[in-house]
Amino acid sequence: MSTSSPKLPLLLQAALCQVLFFSLLSSSFSASYNITHLPGFDGPLPFRLETGYVTMNEKSGAELFYYFVESERNPSEDPLLLWLLGGPGCSGINGLALDMGPFRFKIDDFDGQLPNLYANPFAWTKISNMIFVDWPIGTGFSYSKTAKDYTTEDVEGTAFIYKFLRKWLLDHPNFLSNPFYMGGDSYGGKITVLTADKIVEGNEVGQKPLINIKGYLVGNAATGEKVDTSSQVPHAYGLGIISKELYKLIMTHCAGEEDFKRPQNVLCATHLETFNGFLAEINSYSILDPDCSDEPPTSAMRSLKENQEEFISSPLSSVPDISCITAALLANYWGNHHLVKEALHVKEGTTERFHRCDFNVNSYYYTRSVPSTVPYHYSFITRGFRALVYSGDHDLKIPILGTLEWVKSLNFFVLEPRRSWHAGGQVAGYTILFSNNLTFATVKGGGHIAPDIMPFECFVMFERWISHQSL
Ligand SMILES: *[C@@H]1O[C@H](CO)[C@@H](O)[C@H](O)[C@H]1NC(C)=O
Ligand SMILES: *[C@@H]1O[C@H](CO)[C@@H](O)[C@H](O)[C@H]1NC(C)=O
Repeated sequence: MSTSSPKLPLLLQAALCQVLFFSLLSSSFSASYNITHLPGFDGPLPFRLETGYVTMNEKSGAELFYYFVESERNPSEDPLLLWLLGGPGCSGINGLALDMGPFRFKIDDFDGQLPNLYANPFAWTKISNMIFVDWPIGTGFSYSKTAKDYTTEDVEGTAFIYKFLRKWLLDHPNFLSNPFYMGGDSYGGKITVLTADKIVEGNEVGQKPLINIKGYLVGNAATGEKVDTSSQVPHAYGLGIISKELYKLIMTHCAGEEDFKRPQNVLCATHLETFNGFLAEINSYSILDPDCSDEPPTSAMRSLKENQEEFISSPLSSVPDISCITAALLANYWGNHHLVKEALHVKEGTTERFHRCDFNVNSYYYTRSVPSTVPYHYSFITRGFRALVYSGDHDLKIPILGTLEWVKSLNFFVLEPRRSWHAGGQVAGYTILFSNNLTFATVKGGGHIAPDIMPFECFVMFERWISHQSL
């Protein structure tokens, strides 16, 4: 197999090689576990964490893995929020420990062994119940026994999440009456809107159980529109990364392009190549942060899995460049540790290697089939549901300028013009309130995943919005 061709999921490779996997998998059933302790976390967890699988297709053996965190305030009345990560192909562990979730990794004391976790004081689970899911199949710990389950696209994928939610709620009927919200980052923002729309349609035709949906919130969300990427150019210019000349050349020669990813005009393509060269040198997800690799050295991974002794005896050789240790890298170490897999009740033999974000799902198995979510935003919001669209202003992947442009294209009235919003006595960003209960907010200093760097500010934003207060 050439290295550039899509790799079959390891599970399937193994199955094809006729190993003992099927005997392990044949006992598949929906299962959930209360987790009281996690490797790397000191003491018992101060909240209820449940993990489990929802069987999506008994025949094909498709199982979605989820992480459920109960609200620390009042679980029976606080909102229930289903959060989707980006990629596609990024595991719910991103939400759990690299975003607004209840954990954070301790970066400073990493010694090449098991990463340590601490409780996030600004977790949104302080005031809401949250479900994070490893979607689609092939992401995180979700798997199937059937190869075709690894291939999906926006519409089918969205129906899959809606089905997951219905099955999850039937297993957890005490959460049926909580106010329900969808939420997502990046590509998860695109799928959030498509799923919310699907839920509303399902409710309208009486699909059971009815979902008590109230609205959604999306962060640095993809739409599929040209502005997702074309806005990178003015934003990079505004941030001082490219020259005025290059900015002008791109604006002139790319004006007619439908898409900045596959430009037709040769001059446009040339200038965009120069532009992408500038972007490639920095961390375009969060421009003030160092650009580091998320992948642990292969030697470290081998030791993690096969030989704990060897790993412990040579931790330094497996620690990457000390200046480049990030929480994202630690997530890959943590999720691959056998103690972590055991504690989370991951079924043995189902995920050979855990990836925080799975490259194969992202690049080969998933088709981005819906060209634009903007009509779905319009249809959902104008039916009377609430929406918060927020944007970390230091993200060059899905910049604030593009987001504001599509938000404005909905043509809602401006009820409250742009003003600053505050947290801890400081300006935390800027907000515009549109008609139809649509709030737009920037998070000053935030990157692609705004709560990662600005956890306090994002918690304040979430708490106000979810409590129906103005920012
Ligand atoms: C987990 O804990 C909750 C709350 O205490 C309980 O209702 C539920 O039945 C438990 N689930 C399992 C699988 O033990
Ligand atoms: C906005 O939301 C409030 C509840 O927070 C609701 O009473 C009101 O009808 C909504 N307005 C619109 C235009 O949907």
